[in-house]
Amino acid sequence: MSSFAESPMESERQLPAGDQSLPPSIQVSVAVVDADQSVRNRLAMQIGQGATAFASIEELSRRLTGTTPVVVVLGPSCSGAAELAVAERLMGAHPELGAILIADELSTAVLQQALRAGVRDVVSMPIETSQLTQAVQKVAVGLEVQPRRPQIAADPGADSNGPEETGELGRVITVFSTKGGAGKSVISTNLAAILAQRSERPVCLIDADLQFGDVAVMLKLTPQHTIVDAVNSIEKLDLALMDSLLVEHEPSGLKVLPAPLEPAFADQIGARDVVAIVEVLRRFCAVVVVDTPAYFNDVVLGLVEASDEVLLVAGMDIPNIKNVKIGLQTLRLLNTPMEKLKLILNRANSKVKLDVTEVERTLQVKADGLIPSDVVVPQAVNKGVPVALHAPKSGVTRAIETLADEIIPADGKKRKRK
Ligand SMILES: Nc1ncnc2c1ncn2[C@@H]1O[C@H](COP(=O)(O)OP(=O)(O)OP(=O)(O)O)[C@@H](O)[C@H]1O
Ligand SMILES: [Mg+2]
Repeated sequence: MSSFAESPMESERQLPAGDQSLPPSIQVSVAVVDADQSVRNRLAMQIGQGATAFASIEELSRRLTGTTPVVVVLGPSCSGAAELAVAERLMGAHPELGAILIADELSTAVLQQALRAGVRDVVSMPIETSQLTQAVQKVAVGLEVQPRRPQIAADPGADSNGPEETGELGRVITVFSTKGGAGKSVISTNLAAILAQRSERPVCLIDADLQFGDVAVMLKLTPQHTIVDAVNSIEKLDLALMDSLLVEHEPSGLKVLPAPLEPAFADQIGARDVVAIVEVLRRFCAVVVVDTPAYFNDVVLGLVEASDEVLLVAGMDIPNIKNVKIGLQTLRLLNTPMEKLKLILNRANSKVKLDVTEVERTLQVKADGLIPSDVVVPQAVNKGVPVALHAPKSGVTRAIETLADEIIPADGKKRKRK
């Protein structure tokens, strides 16, 4: 059985049923479309066995038989509005198709147009073979499971391809510290990864350390999109578009909105943008965790206000405690409800002659979480794996799990929001 009608021009093949990277039941063909012969042949070669090259969407449409799901890889020549309109019409007529677009340059305009046309994913050239195969497989699996999925609709209410909105707003947790290197990113990535494993609904981590965010590095992610894309689309940011900008940390299922790739982009992002993004995310996520920079700026203040909880992280040394004390005073001056704040003492077992009770007395706040110091943390960070997965039985993992218990208990039942 083949999904393409006979043609003397092109050979036709199918992903072999026994392809190691797909479940054995999946029978999906791959079509590569680009006006440039060398581009389409190169992409088809990258995908390997199973990919058939076509010079135009019209040529592909003449060869479709409608019998098997087809992943359509649209090359850079298809990224214009006219070509995307043709692709949209074809996908409208053939629900067994699922497309990805390989664009020369990933502008917000191209991204939006493509997603609106029903394209499932947009990636930019040059594309590595592993990245391309992964994108194709993701669509292939979706087609197999739900072969008749409609495309992304402009109206979020009518959108069954995007994430589900349950009406219950997710909990927003900002992880902050007034001292660099206190452990914000370690705590936020691990807390979010643990929650993602426990939650039925999605859990998202936003990297709001806009200049030097390293969440993507800590989780070994190669983001196609960042918070900059979300900000550039802020006026049209519906659930489907938002979801398509997130990169998944596959081992935990956590969804991540990474920081800009260039520190210079940080200037383009304001508090209103970040809060608007949080508000969209909490419509379909059970929890939104936010990592922040080590200083107050308007984005941090906006996030503190929009959050249900703020985890204030302090390391166990005098400069940390001094800075956290100033941070607490600032938050009090800003009328931040103190019940929102949770003090987390990191490296709390360090043999540095600072004792927890002494720190609590100085800060006049009781610690809500104590995280020990352990060499497994830098080991995990350097491997790009959350400690919770690298050393699940370590004291650090247990301590962060205890923080997670307050939000989603380990038995998987989500605690009721206050
Ligand atoms: N509990 C711990 N035990 C051992 N090492 C730790 C612990 N927590 C954090 N570290 C180490 O400290 C370093 C800094 O941690 P992290 O990046 O989470 O801090 P941060 O507050 O996000 O820093 P920045 O302000 O630069 O964003 C990490 O590379 C990690 O290896
Ligand atoms: Mg950090």
